[in-house]
Amino acid sequence: MPSAFDTLAPTYDADFTASPIARHLRGRVHARLDRLVASGETALELGCGTGEDALHLARRGVHVIATDASEAMLTATRAKLVGAAHVRVERLDLQNLNHGGTEFTEGREINMVFANFGVLNCLEDWRPLAAWLARRLRPGGRAAFGVMPPLCLWEIGWHALHGEFGVAFRRWQRGGAQFGINHRGTEITEGRAIHYPSPRRLAQDFAPWFRRTHIEPLGLLLPPSDVYGVIEKRPRLLRALVALDDRIGRNPALAACADHYWIEFERASTSADRTA
Ligand SMILES: C[S@@+](CC[C@H](N)C(=O)[O-])C[C@H]1O[C@@H](n2cnc3c(N)ncnc32)[C@H](O)[C@@H]1O
Repeated sequence: MPSAFDTLAPTYDADFTASPIARHLRGRVHARLDRLVASGETALELGCGTGEDALHLARRGVHVIATDASEAMLTATRAKLVGAAHVRVERLDLQNLNHGGTEFTEGREINMVFANFGVLNCLEDWRPLAAWLARRLRPGGRAAFGVMPPLCLWEIGWHALHGEFGVAFRRWQRGGAQFGINHRGTEITEGRAIHYPSPRRLAQDFAPWFRRTHIEPLGLLLPPSDVYGVIEKRPRLLRALVALDDRIGRNPALAACADHYWIEFERASTSADRTA
């Protein structure tokens, strides 16, 4: 069944990827990824979207296995990565991890797995994913995620000021927020909910196999994507916010108040590994 992301895929880069705020935040993510994986190593990407991050890593000589549940996103990624060396593009649905039995690694060790910009928010329980990843990463392997937390100060402040209390507090809805995207004036929904794990909840679900090594806010002083246009129309304000975000927007203590947080884990050596 086509997903809402299939509808978004053809214009995702024009609507989101190309926007100055998204480019700034993605630059921050790339700087983190560059510390986590080296040329010649292998990265598994979950929810690759149109392949921006896969392209960045492939250009650095990283072997990338880019995956997504949306066929249209995969088509966009394949088009973007045509001719790129060491890249495979595969369908993988995080809600159906063991379905199909595709084994992406072909015996190759995965050194790092990552998912950027809200991919993990499509899940309600992160422990099955953590267990699945633990079987594919050796001790010392890295995992990194850009996740939307339950509290985004910008979102609450902006939408409450505009009297849009439903939007302001959507992340707090019981059972998750209805998945809906306003795409060029049309609301696209598909009856799925998105969920907002706190950094603590995510770390708990990963804790049996992974230890948290890093966390920082991603977009603490910059608005969520539905407000990008308002700020981007004011270049001086945009420059000031970007500069401020770079100066004070990386405080780990404030990670859970931004539009996303960036969280990194290391695969720990568990007693099960030692006896294997
Ligand atoms: C907001 S986009 C982020 C895309 C990309 N990571 C980026 O940085 O631009 C979320 C992505 O997650 C994918 N996605 C949603 N649910 C998924 C699932 N259950 N399994 C795998 N991918 C999923 C969507 O198709 C979409 O490409």
